[in-house]
Amino acid sequence: MKDIAKETERLKKEKNAVILAHYYVNDEVQNVADYVGDSYYLAKIAKESSADVIVFCGVSFMGESAKILNPDKTVLMPDKSANCPMAHMADVAKIEEMREKYDDLAVVCYINSTSELKCHSDVCVTSSNAVKIVEALPNKNIFFIPDENLGRYVAEQVSDKNIILNDGFCHVHASITKDYLGQIKAKYPNALVLAHPECKKDVLDEADYIGSTSGIIEFASKIDSDEFIVCTESGVSCELKKRNPGKKFYFASSNHFCPNMKLNTLEKVLHVLKTGENEVKVSDEIRKRALIPLDRMIEIAK
Ligand code: 13P
Ligand code: SF4
Repeated sequence: MKDIAKETERLKKEKNAVILAHYYVNDEVQNVADYVGDSYYLAKIAKESSADVIVFCGVSFMGESAKILNPDKTVLMPDKSANCPMAHMADVAKIEEMREKYDDLAVVCYINSTSELKCHSDVCVTSSNAVKIVEALPNKNIFFIPDENLGRYVAEQVSDKNIILNDGFCHVHASITKDYLGQIKAKYPNALVLAHPECKKDVLDEADYIGSTSGIIEFASKIDSDEFIVCTESGVSCELKKRNPGKKFYFASSNHFCPNMKLNTLEKVLHVLKTGENEVKVSDEIRKRALIPLDRMIEIAK
């Protein structure tokens, strides 16, 4: 393992490459990354990067967004089959139907979506900026795709808009149930509950804090409390433990792994750095159209 990390470091310098990793990937991959963060942070870093090569350790919508935001760079993914099922859970025909129905409709697209869906959207959001962006839009009618749970959470925060929900969901967060959370809470009654907004409403209703992966990590690190029940994917424990060695973190599901994020391994990072395989390609036409909602997100979220 040490040798792989060393060789990765050497190749990174030789190729002027940078490694970006999401908080859900394996710990050993987070440990060799130059930047680890939530989706918004990583998109911003990808846009601003001056490296020649970006190795994106995440899932395909993340690699594609990096390529769309910074087309002159080579973007490599350790495993190209790492895909977020939720990214596909909306359809263009439904978007068109909604546009017919409402004159002033804004299609707000969670960044966890295919590039094709982004092409048909007005603005992208991530879990860390969705409320702020929806609030800033002049439109009254919003079609929020693809995640129903994040959409509902935003609708609860922004009461003056008509937010139409779509039925997409994340299977990892949906596996966290109110019943199981109740059992963990009974075991650790002093623990604060931290939840990602992709969780179902009855789980979010039990939370002391709701936010993105970065938000969860920041909150747990700042607040004067020693025990937490975490309602999101297990990968966040790497950073949570690093920053808070004295605190305890319990997970609210027996199945809190995103199998796609876990496809990123140190061996695969080294392999793509060595060979240049698994390059992310986005056609010019898709890139130009999908860039509009991504850029608009970055502009409003500033
Ligand atoms: P964050 O933007 O909060 O890191 O979430 C990404 C994601 O895929 C959640 O499932
Ligand atoms: Fe997609 Fe869920 Fe995995 Fe995030 S945790 S990448 S939303 S499947």
